[in-house]
Amino acid sequence: MPQENGNAGARAAKGRPEQATAPSGGSEPHAVGSVGVTSYGASDRPPRGDYSRASADYTCPQNYAGYTPADHDTYRRLYERQAALLPGLACDEFIAALPSLGASDHIPRFEDINKRLYKATGWEIVTVPGLIPEVPFFTLLANRKFPVTDWIRRPEEFDYIVEPDVFHDLFGHVPLLFNPIFADHMQEYGKGGLKAHGLGACEQLSRLYWYTIEFGLIQQKDGLRAYGAGILSSSGELRHSVQSPEPQRLPLDIERVMRTRYKIDSYQQTYFVIQSFQELFDKTAPDFTPIYERLRGLPEIAADAKLAEEEPFSTEIDEEWNTSTASRPS
Ligand code: PHE
Ligand code: CO
Repeated sequence: MPQENGNAGARAAKGRPEQATAPSGGSEPHAVGSVGVTSYGASDRPPRGDYSRASADYTCPQNYAGYTPADHDTYRRLYERQAALLPGLACDEFIAALPSLGASDHIPRFEDINKRLYKATGWEIVTVPGLIPEVPFFTLLANRKFPVTDWIRRPEEFDYIVEPDVFHDLFGHVPLLFNPIFADHMQEYGKGGLKAHGLGACEQLSRLYWYTIEFGLIQQKDGLRAYGAGILSSSGELRHSVQSPEPQRLPLDIERVMRTRYKIDSYQQTYFVIQSFQELFDKTAPDFTPIYERLRGLPEIAADAKLAEEEPFSTEIDEEWNTSTASRPS
């Protein structure tokens, strides 16, 4: 059974290595796989990376020599499958920037991507051994450095991986860092994370990360599209999120999002839709301090809750789904 994760750390709140052995760590790391996400935060499974490689800020060199031919082949196959799914489902900005990752037939060297990325938006990729704690994570983002895990999933994990690997982090997150507005938003999120940490509000902020940066949808001129990395790196959730009549889709409302728990091991049951990255930037620009304050007195909302007064975002979903040919469980 899918679990509900009320104590959502961010991937934002990536996991806290030292908490991985604690049965109920305060920060709930999550990871994103091709079919969804899961977490080790509430389990006793340690994060997978080799943290002895990392320096104090949790970064390390990309272990490029450590990749085997099978690793490169896994990346190639994941990329090929996912790229073929994007038209009509991924947002235009993502599709336009994807080639900036470079060759798709092997795992790229991050330094090569950085030459293009830095020129485009002043962002850089840095290597990390895996999930990292909140404060170092927020600090990197605030300095326009995006942490990317260097290892890749094993072949038997092709469809599902319980922690973010290089495919999720690169393919899912990095293309939109080429977009100036989204790039600025990510930096503001990092700064906001450090602030939320001081205010004891990381859980609320991590839900925002979850429902936007990982699982956000955007209405574009040709229809609904995905911009969240957890969706874009998932072969199954991409179509589910954009076209299935099953999930609820709501316009982005910061306080609603911050109150909404999320499922970490199934497709999302609620998605939040923006009309533009500028809307995301503008809605997250106000000081969240009074919002965090107000939310302390309000109950959480379940991941699948449908509130009586809420209007769904879109109505064209059913038709698109029914006219498509792919099979799905009825
Ligand atoms: N405006 C938020 C605050 O004052 C910071 C933030 C910006 C959070 C962008 C998320 C995204 O705390
Ligand atoms: Co992610």
